[in-house]
Amino acid sequence: MDGDLIRLVSRLQDTFANLGGELDMPQLAVVGSQSAGKSSVLENLVGRDFLPRGQGIVTRRPLILQLVHTAPPPSATYSEYAQFLHVDKRFTDFNEVRKEIEAETFRVAGQNKGVSKLPINLRIYSPHVLDLTLVDLPGLTKIPVGDQPTDIERQIRNLILDYITKPNCVILSVSPANVDLANSDSLKLARSVDPQGRRTIGILTKLDLMDAGTNAVDILSGRVYPLKLGFIGVVNRSQQDINSDRSMKEALEAEIEFFSNHAAYRIIAHRHGTKFLAKTLNQVLLNHIRDKLPDMKARLNTLMGQTQQELNAFGDTTSLGDHHQGALILRMMTQFARDFVSSIEGTSLDIST
Ligand code: GDP
Ligand code: NA
Ligand code: MG
Repeated sequence: MDGDLIRLVSRLQDTFANLGGELDMPQLAVVGSQSAGKSSVLENLVGRDFLPRGQGIVTRRPLILQLVHTAPPPSATYSEYAQFLHVDKRFTDFNEVRKEIEAETFRVAGQNKGVSKLPINLRIYSPHVLDLTLVDLPGLTKIPVGDQPTDIERQIRNLILDYITKPNCVILSVSPANVDLANSDSLKLARSVDPQGRRTIGILTKLDLMDAGTNAVDILSGRVYPLKLGFIGVVNRSQQDINSDRSMKEALEAEIEFFSNHAAYRIIAHRHGTKFLAKTLNQVLLNHIRDKLPDMKARLNTLMGQTQQELNAFGDTTSLGDHHQGALILRMMTQFARDFVSSIEGTSLDIST
């Protein structure tokens, strides 16, 4: 996530908390058919290798991933770490995090393709993230396999609906480009809870796997399926990349190459890819914050009125110490005004990573 946005949101959250309110950020949830690339997309957004991915049903329990912004540490030893709700341990090795997700999936959802509604709760603490919740979900499926019950399709649908029905949820609707979009169950499900397409972002994965001579320009330009936030094409790591441990950095560079060298995508390359997806999400989050600002301002005005009265009763305000309530509020106001202005003029918030 973008450093400027992280700082802005943290400051606003502190200010709002001081005002006795809460700046609740939206949840981001992925929806799509099995193996569409949901876990891969989330992982790219976080910029860390830690989610189980692969062919077939891999994500079998919801993973509620809370990113928690921390102040940069004095030493770099523990700058980033992860912690599960179910085990009292600090993870600094993200490969271990993946193993723990796998073990915990097997423990509750069994060895044989079963799916459980019971979420795994994971927190990542880092100075490089926004306070944000991302939800990885099992994929939509039709035919029961392994231990799955006959009504697995309905069960997974309901599980997904539990998350995406919330108005505060931004839906990342993931469809693979090598399957006809008319068959996209994820878009259908997203539309059922967000009929206007206001909080749904279409993500088209596997552009690299389309048949030779075909391309997805029509879909990516919004001519096939209308969504206010549009469609963003991405190329994630392939199964072979996963098997050969290809690094995230290398894969991101290859993605940029793919778009800028492709005859059909070259001219739209700047509006696609993982980096642009992150930038778009930043914008969605900024808009969300902008919607919350009037409430913040109203709270502030009330407090200012009270403080002014209190200060009047004191007469001379210059003698007030730093920790006096009035001085505190005046400081917060200054900070608030600064944050307010920078967020409204937030168009300069470019993704920096
Ligand atoms: P999920 O089941 O929707 O969470 O999908 P995963 O992220 O686990 O990915 C399923 C499989 O598809 C994995 O083998 C990935 O490597 C592969 N995959 C995902 N996205 C892409 C992509 O854009 N291109 C290619 N070639 N493979 C992808
Ligand atoms: Na999969
Ligand atoms: Mg998955």
